[in-house]
Amino acid sequence: MRNRSVSIIFGSLILWAVATYFLFLDQQSVGKDQDKDKLANQISRLEKQVKQQIIINQELLEGINENKRLKKEYERINAALQLKDDTEKNKDKKHEVNKNKSILLQKIESKNKKILENEQEPTQDTILSTEGTHNTPLRQKLPDGSPIIAILVVSCNRITVERCLNQLIKLRPSKEQFPIVVSQDCDHRQTADVIARYGNQLLHIKQPDQSDIEIPPKEKKFRGYFKIARHYKWALNQVFLKLGYSTAIIVEDDLDVAPDFYEYFLGTYPLLVNDSSLWCVSAWNDNGKAGLVDEHAPHLLYRTDFFPGLGWMLTRDLWLELAPKWPKSYWDDWIRQPEQRKNRACIRPEISRTRTFGKLGVSNGLFFEKHLKYIKLNEQFVPFTKMNLSYLLKDNYDIAFVNQVYQSTVVSYSELKSGNIVAPGPVRIPYYTRQSFKNTTKLLGLMDDFRSGVPRSGYRGVVTFFYNGRRVHLAPSANWSGYDITWS
Ligand SMILES: *[C@@H]1O[C@H](CO)[C@@H](O)[C@H](O)[C@H]1NC(C)=O
Ligand SMILES: *[C@@H]1O[C@H](CO)[C@@H](O)[C@H](O)[C@H]1NC(C)=O
Ligand SMILES: *[C@@H]1O[C@H](CO)[C@@H](O)[C@H](O)[C@H]1NC(C)=O
Ligand SMILES: *[C@@H]1O[C@H](CO)[C@@H](O)[C@H](O)[C@H]1NC(C)=O
Ligand SMILES: *[C@@H]1O[C@H](CO)[C@@H](O)[C@H](O)[C@H]1NC(C)=O
Repeated sequence: MRNRSVSIIFGSLILWAVATYFLFLDQQSVGKDQDKDKLANQISRLEKQVKQQIIINQELLEGINENKRLKKEYERINAALQLKDDTEKNKDKKHEVNKNKSILLQKIESKNKKILENEQEPTQDTILSTEGTHNTPLRQKLPDGSPIIAILVVSCNRITVERCLNQLIKLRPSKEQFPIVVSQDCDHRQTADVIARYGNQLLHIKQPDQSDIEIPPKEKKFRGYFKIARHYKWALNQVFLKLGYSTAIIVEDDLDVAPDFYEYFLGTYPLLVNDSSLWCVSAWNDNGKAGLVDEHAPHLLYRTDFFPGLGWMLTRDLWLELAPKWPKSYWDDWIRQPEQRKNRACIRPEISRTRTFGKLGVSNGLFFEKHLKYIKLNEQFVPFTKMNLSYLLKDNYDIAFVNQVYQSTVVSYSELKSGNIVAPGPVRIPYYTRQSFKNTTKLLGLMDDFRSGVPRSGYRGVVTFFYNGRRVHLAPSANWSGYDITWS
């Protein structure tokens, strides 16, 4: 706790001093707007640095606490050992205890090493302070000004990560622009071997904390989700804080990617950094099954209030916001809560740029069989970086979207199915209750679930898809005023 308090106090002091200086200047000179801007920039940079330092310190603190826990355990075993007498009967027991003891000692040693490494890490500070002083952060842009976007591949114990890596490397337009970082959890030897074979085509990092996680008894069967959350937190800290990247795309180890995967993220990057109402770009359309998408419109993109995941891009700023409160498990449903989402949206494509080729392990196998495996992967290359995507900025998008949805012809499910609709253009199927939404989605083969009240791929309550040659909006009434989080 002392570590943290000291850094918080120190940080506050710096901020206070700079703020006072700023106020003082403000009173002294009225006409120096430029200086003021500079100072304001410096303050916000300082603020960011302090925030980063606090997060780093928290990491350290967690390491120390974990170490204390291990030490206690060690002492407990030692005490147990002394209580036992040395009779033949207890030999086996003693042997086991001794074995446990040495395992624990190893753990403590590696923990200590890790903490020490962390303390001596000059690179981290160098990266951060470079940003602070010169405003040219490391690993943010190529010399020609185009962005560097790290690809973070999240891996555990599936050697099929090879399939994903082969595609990522084959399609990658530039190693410098898209450095691949494979973060491996689980200490799985075969998977590590597979990743190691790629040599310097990627950076292979391993999540060092393999200790048992404390899990409430009722949630024991969800252990995997706890491990995933811990791994994500560590891996994202590495990418954004230690390696100093400012943008990353997270790819799970079971994803196929489309030919224009990189082009899609590069093209949408300016939207993500310019539009503060966006917090992610996702490669995934939750309702992107063949038969529900327009196969002739791979260029089409949308905004969605539903966080899709499954191949998604985020910025360091977002990570700095989420990291301090990162949950112990179920991070994807957590991120979808209003407290985290704060009304922000993601970009998603008409036709997915990723597809999962099979989930073994933590995720629900049934979900894969019923839905995921029918998602269509785009096959056509779309030159997004050469297109005008400003229609996706909130100010442009919302007006056009609401107009299109609520000026469209209202139809029923059976009319849509029969194909006997005379009016041209998009159509709308209204829903007013949770149950009528669910009934209609079941008939159409759409996803019927809600997370924090938001339906999959929904925007302003509207789920947009393609059916029988028609653009269709499954839409609430025009006076819709927000999601009802009791809909689940
Ligand atoms: C030694 O460790 C194993 C597994 O970690 C555990 O089941 C066992 O109870 C431990 N033995 C003692 C004596 O602590
Ligand atoms: C948005 O950001 C990009 C890159 O950061 C920049 O080049 C562009 O001019 C900005 N504005 C728009 C409207 O895209
Ligand atoms: C891009 O599209 C927007 C409308 O969404 C339009 O206002 C703008 O002029 C276009 N920009 C260019 C360079 O064509
Ligand atoms: C939904 O479907 C069920 C049975 O299929 C029906 O009983 C119910 O009335 C429907 N609800 C709405 C709101 O359409
Ligand atoms: C919104 O419109 C629906 C029907 O279009 C109506 O039943 C409902 O009462 C309206 N709600 C509000 C808050 O005006």
